[in-house]
Amino acid sequence: MFKPAVARQAIKALNQSTRPIALAATPRHFLRPISTTVPRFQKDDKKDPFVKATTRAPDGAAGESEGKYARTDENVVIEYPDDAHMPPSPVVQGRGGMHFKRTLAQFSLENKVTVVTGGARGLGLVMAQGIVASGSDLAIVDLNKEEAEDSAKKLVEQFQKENPGLEELPNVTAHFADVSNPDSVNNALSEILEKHGKIDQLVTSAGFTENFDAINYPFDRMQKLWGVNVDGTYLFATGVAKHLMERKAPGSIVMIGSMSGAIVNVPQPQAPYNAAKAAVRHLASSFAVEWAGHDIRVNCISPGYMLTALTRKILDENPELRDKWISLIPAGKMGVPEDLMGAVTFLLSDASKYVTGAELRVDGGYTST
Ligand SMILES: NC(=O)c1ccc[n+]([C@@H]2O[C@H](COP(=O)([O-])OP(=O)(O)OC[C@H]3O[C@@H](n4cnc5c(N)ncnc54)[C@H](O)[C@@H]3O)[C@@H](O)[C@H]2O)c1
Repeated sequence: MFKPAVARQAIKALNQSTRPIALAATPRHFLRPISTTVPRFQKDDKKDPFVKATTRAPDGAAGESEGKYARTDENVVIEYPDDAHMPPSPVVQGRGGMHFKRTLAQFSLENKVTVVTGGARGLGLVMAQGIVASGSDLAIVDLNKEEAEDSAKKLVEQFQKENPGLEELPNVTAHFADVSNPDSVNNALSEILEKHGKIDQLVTSAGFTENFDAINYPFDRMQKLWGVNVDGTYLFATGVAKHLMERKAPGSIVMIGSMSGAIVNVPQPQAPYNAAKAAVRHLASSFAVEWAGHDIRVNCISPGYMLTALTRKILDENPELRDKWISLIPAGKMGVPEDLMGAVTFLLSDASKYVTGAELRVDGGYTST
């Protein structure tokens, strides 16, 4: 193996050997001896519970728990369900709506049109509800158009219930797109522009995770995962940014990453998802810099474990995961989708006018430990 440090020392030694004699006469040590002796595990160390749990001790000396907790487990295999097996998500009751507490007008999304990808269900749907409650019109984009239409209808009904006196209802539309396909994305964007006339802001929530160990991860599923999480985020963000630049209008884009973009979850193995979410986070920073001159802000929300209908299904089928996950969260509990309503509204609105390229972690402190 090529070792640059050794090579440097050899060149230095060569240079030294051609020096004038007067200088060369002074004895010099060119190579420092390197100790490679590993400290031995002493007899007394065996009784020392602290040393037993260090690298000085042989493998297994720390006991049965050695390396058991912060490690992925290849036995955890979870496949993302197809639509027929996907649990439906309800809209949230009583969290949006009209209220009479004073708050900053900067948080309002009035007169805006917001697109939410993956908005038929889960986190996307609840964030969409927060966006509508904050005054914006909405275009839901999803692979499942039927569910997107149903959710759009329910969002308006819920808004009406919470704002009984209001005559003007938000314009909420539903659109089909496979976010990983450029043609499909362009068709959806044209359809949205036809219905709403403009787009001001975007939330990319379409995404999914699966669990297979890295060696046995089916390659086609890995490509699909990256296609939806990374390409899908890229395609929608660039499509909306292009429209904003053509209109010479300011805009705000929020990408839904994950705490998995910064840490490695345990015990479920999910290397491609973790890498995909790291890519989403850095795409947000990269676009933020590239589009700052166009007044287009781009930020990333990285949620921790949130209890959606799908998370509930996974935990029902893998009950051992629940306690393990909760034990690793400083707040001692999972979040719920409503916990993202304020975060997404803040990042979309003028309240965060000088925030771009940022990552907002909503994870109960998980990534701080
Ligand atoms: N739930 C969590 O605990 C959690 C934690 C961190 C990050 N996230 C991220 O939040 C986002 C939303 O996750 P969720 O939990 O709400 O998932 P979900 O499965 O409940 O909802 C995802 C939505 O995206 C849609 N979708 C999937 N593939 C699509 C495609 N190719 N084109 C268009 N739409 C597509 C689905 O139909 C679904 O409506 C994802 O990016 C996910 O990685 C979730």
